[in-house]
Amino acid sequence: MNDLLDLAARQLRADLADAPARARKRFSDEGRAARCRTIAELRAAAKRAVPKPIFDYADGAAWDEVTARRNIAAFEDVTLHPLALTDVSSVDLRTTVLGGEIALPIIGAPTGLTGLQHPEGELAVARAAHAAGTITTLSTMASCTMEEVAAASSGRRWFQLYVMSDRGLVDSLLERAAANGYEALMLTVDVQVAGVRERDVRNGFSVPPRITLKTLARGVTHPRWSAGFVANPRMVPANLGWEGSATATLSSAVNRAFDPTVTWDDLADLRARWKGPLIVKGVMRADDAVRCVEHGADAIIVSNHGGRQLDGTAASIEALPAIADAVGGRAELYLDSGIRRGTDIVKALALGARAVLIGRALMYGLGAAGEAGARRAFSILEGELRVALALAGYPRAADLEGVATVS
Ligand SMILES: Cc1cc2nc3c(=O)[nH]c(=O)nc-3n(C[C@H](O)[C@H](O)[C@H](O)COP(=O)(O)O)c2cc1C
Repeated sequence: MNDLLDLAARQLRADLADAPARARKRFSDEGRAARCRTIAELRAAAKRAVPKPIFDYADGAAWDEVTARRNIAAFEDVTLHPLALTDVSSVDLRTTVLGGEIALPIIGAPTGLTGLQHPEGELAVARAAHAAGTITTLSTMASCTMEEVAAASSGRRWFQLYVMSDRGLVDSLLERAAANGYEALMLTVDVQVAGVRERDVRNGFSVPPRITLKTLARGVTHPRWSAGFVANPRMVPANLGWEGSATATLSSAVNRAFDPTVTWDDLADLRARWKGPLIVKGVMRADDAVRCVEHGADAIIVSNHGGRQLDGTAASIEALPAIADAVGGRAELYLDSGIRRGTDIVKALALGARAVLIGRALMYGLGAAGEAGARRAFSILEGELRVALALAGYPRAADLEGVATVS
């Protein structure tokens, strides 16, 4: 009996001595990130951590958000056909994109105004992608400059371009991208005009954010986010010279700056001017994909912008098989929109994608726990992908032909 009491007392003392360290860990970004076991849990944590308009900016989509929901639901209509009795003792996630190997077939999607979720913004996302052994893509609308991101982390990086009416600005973006080691140019073709995200309209979301009594009150209820924001506000796109411009809704600012006259001629022009690999993002039709190939695209991203642009399109996973058929290996294919699980990645690779891009999964991680959260988004998907590949009997991510069909 005495021995038992002695043991309990010793354990209690050790527990108490350890309490401050455990509390520190619990309330650190690392602790918060580690407690999230799924992308859905990262999303829930982000929803708690950042003010509603900031969460809605990342989470929301166009009009009735039908396409955004369909992007996720459509993965349920893809059926996996596991192979029995294969040796899966070593699962290999590596693949090759644009001539270089990445450690896993998951790439960081370009996201504008990422610094609203967390002041480290694209710097944190780039470090997380590079720690995972993969590529980060910097948006034209990024909160951090191309130079800052290049200095923050030395892994592979791509630059995403929106064609602006000010073609001189486009020229200077291309020059800076090349000078700062952005190896590929990704032209996004599905933002002819700004999509209408009604959550943003209702929340009065603007660039730079308008400070009202309501925003101040929201700041008080999200003290960790507010402390970061006050210390290092990243309120406008950093590469476009918008600092000091008057507050405007995001859609009116986009519609003022972006060029709605962009056509295939502009793609041909960019192909002639950009010396590195060229990727076209936002293709949803087989005929358009073939035209991209004919215009010299090295890669195509089957994407509907996560449902943030035209509501009512197919899910991107639904569009993938026909595009893969039509392209027939003449360009690399990647897919984004709706990736939330490792099995989604298996399905995308099986239906013809070489890799996937993740947008919101990274935004949730960043909002929930900064860089640690962005790293967690990669590690959750990596872990799920590893198990899913083993259970499917296909130990190599680069070799998944035949494991899935669309029902
Ligand atoms: C907050 C946010 C900002 C985005 N900004 C851009 C952008 O500036 N350029 C771009 O090409 N795509 C942008 N996208 C779209 C993503 O690159 C990607 O296509 C989409 O997020 C994929 O869907 P998912 O969020 O379900 O992964 C953005 C997406 C989000 C969520």
